[in-house]
Amino acid sequence: MIFKKASATPPLRGRVRVPGDKSISHRALIISALAEGRSVATGVNTGDDVMATARCLTALGASVTMDIGRSRATIESPGLDSLAEPAGVLDCGNSGTAIRMLLGVCAAVSGQSVLTGDESLRRRPMLRVVSPLRQMGARIDGRDHGNLAPLTVRGAGLEGIDLETTVASAQVKTAILLAGLGASGRTTVTEPVLSRDHTEHMLEASGVAVAKDGLSVSVTGGARPVPREWSVPGDPSAAMFLVVAALLVPGSEITIDDVAINPIRTAAFEVLAAMGADIEVTPGGDSGGEPTGTVRAAHSELRGIAIDPAQVPALIDEVPALCIAAAAADGETTLRGAAELRVKESDRISLMACGLVALGVTVEEFPDGLAIRGRAGGGFTAGGDIQSGGDHRIAMAFAVAGLIAREKVRVQGWSCVETSFPGFLDVVGEAQAG
Ligand code: S3P
Repeated sequence: MIFKKASATPPLRGRVRVPGDKSISHRALIISALAEGRSVATGVNTGDDVMATARCLTALGASVTMDIGRSRATIESPGLDSLAEPAGVLDCGNSGTAIRMLLGVCAAVSGQSVLTGDESLRRRPMLRVVSPLRQMGARIDGRDHGNLAPLTVRGAGLEGIDLETTVASAQVKTAILLAGLGASGRTTVTEPVLSRDHTEHMLEASGVAVAKDGLSVSVTGGARPVPREWSVPGDPSAAMFLVVAALLVPGSEITIDDVAINPIRTAAFEVLAAMGADIEVTPGGDSGGEPTGTVRAAHSELRGIAIDPAQVPALIDEVPALCIAAAAADGETTLRGAAELRVKESDRISLMACGLVALGVTVEEFPDGLAIRGRAGGGFTAGGDIQSGGDHRIAMAFAVAGLIAREKVRVQGWSCVETSFPGFLDVVGEAQAG
């Protein structure tokens, strides 16, 4: 996929919408599958990741029907106690969220489940979920002592645990809490820093008592969600690409409607504001326990900053887009404390550094982050071939860079964008026509 030169890039203007939040969509499907009866989720993300979760849940005995045209999922489930050993392998595709959360579900289901994914997912660390699930009583085998998929889970008969995690991970927290619903006694997860808390909000919204005490969260075994209707707001991580595009392309001003604005997801917008961005987040409602609102962004002159490592868990998925903003800013931007980026869908630190260097930007790479020496007024000095590594967020980040680059930017492996943002180019085109 080739992106145009700056002279040919029209500004982005008007109101746009982005696909449903991916994290909330996975959870809406999974929590509904644990509830006995019929649930409906509207505004659901229909990218490849959430579709993989839908197929896996269906294989476990909860029928999930996705109406892609209407972004609507209907889930008919016999409930957690009647989910059953799947006849085939559960293929989670590219989705770390799907495999880790479903490991928690499968640990509570009697019988054997085998979970796997694509080449990228089969390289990602799973012990962070597998070890606590084993402590709860699940029998799990896999490559590298159970760290790498394919993983075989023999579930049921679990006991609750009191887990202290060393990495702030919502996927780990969710897997253990979901397994905790099927365990005896109480299950508590304590994190070093708060990770995204959609699971807590959404379990509560479906009738499950969730006890919170500082960074600890607990559920009691035997609690079951009740079926309900979910309305999934737009994905702030998807909105981030449009926000950065609007900030960088002269003459732009866009408003993105109905975006999830849970504070644990909007730190990247705060960082952009601190870089001098004309950006405004306006709260507007609530959806299934999740705050929603609009995000407006207009073309701005940005300056580099040192990002506070304490903000990293709340902006981790936005780093690729943030790096593009940093490369177009005046001065240096540093990001540290983000080693987790190396075990996402790709090694995002390495791929962002390589891609930026290819476009003429000066970058220093650290084990846990990057320093990007930006250029006032934007403009990358070179064009070139960018390796996306099959990672949707890397691909979209460099598409945004292509809007302001002086030469052509060619993103290899563009189809991975379907993972989270089907129709990305149509939305950009719409904004440019607006
Ligand atoms: C997610 C949690 C985060 C995030 C991922 C989605 C979730 O991962 O990076 O894209 O939906 O819970 P970790 O749990 O590994 O931090």
